[in-house]
Amino acid sequence: MTMSKSMPATGRETLVIKLGGSILYRLSPQFFMSLADLMKEYNAVIVHGGGPEITYMLNRLNIETTFINGQRKTTAKVLEVAEMMLKGKVNGHLTGTLNGHGLNAVGLCGYDADLLTASLIDRESLGLVGDIEEVNTALLTVLISEGYLPVIAPLALTKDGTKVNVNADLAAAAIAKAAGAEKLLYVTDVPGILHEGKLIPDTTAEEIEGLIADGVISGGMIPKVKSALSALSRHLKEVMITGGQQAIFKDGSILGTKIKGKGGVAAS
Ligand SMILES: Nc1ncnc2c1ncn2[C@@H]1O[C@H](COP(=O)(O)OP(=O)(O)OP(=O)(O)O)[C@@H](O)[C@H]1O
Ligand SMILES: [Mg+2]
Repeated sequence: MTMSKSMPATGRETLVIKLGGSILYRLSPQFFMSLADLMKEYNAVIVHGGGPEITYMLNRLNIETTFINGQRKTTAKVLEVAEMMLKGKVNGHLTGTLNGHGLNAVGLCGYDADLLTASLIDRESLGLVGDIEEVNTALLTVLISEGYLPVIAPLALTKDGTKVNVNADLAAAAIAKAAGAEKLLYVTDVPGILHEGKLIPDTTAEEIEGLIADGVISGGMIPKVKSALSALSRHLKEVMITGGQQAIFKDGSILGTKIKGKGGVAAS
């Protein structure tokens, strides 16, 4: 991976925010106001999903869609629709809304200036789905240092120029790692990890294993916590899961569930 340890020119901490497809069209005014507050303290990069939009259009076009271990099997036709919805509709909507709140957003996808280079995971079973290997962090640095907010659709190119779809949770983790971000934040349609309806304020890798085994964490929360754990490192000490139906930042703190590695720091 192309690494640049401290990306920002301004010396502020960098925060990568993944906005879930589950919440993209239901983000609250409190979310946008608190994001503006957050951006006064952090350099931010946004990565977004768009699964529900892709599924909706595939259904309308009668194109079959299947998931294998939470990843969408991506044929050439599916990729065309994913591109249309992610790079066109969702990225455009989000960038427009962010700029409506004065946030200086710039819409990008992984094809732009080699922003995201991926390798095919398994063409046979998954089709055109990639794992991010390199991130052009220099492009992000240029934008951030000039006060822009990069908003990235999770599409990438392989080294030989093949277009691929990338799971947004994994894309956010890879970008956070490559960009030397201190924090990674998953914004979804629930306020954090819930147990019997109550928010778990903080948790660890060990606890998460137990919560998955007990069925407390299920469905879309599983790939999210797994990518959270894989992203933790000496440098990226904290991953948060938060909800976009409310404020995500209050009195200097990010709200939601905080995931920490062993002793607050992961081994890798
Ligand atoms: N313990 C848990 N606490 C909170 N949510 C949970 C838990 N276990 C499972 N979930 C589910 O995880 C969902 C969030 O993941 P999901 O993949 O649906 O959203 P997303 O990642 O934000 O969106 P997208 O995948 O479209 O980008 C919640 O809506 C909830 O149904
Ligand atoms: Mg998800």
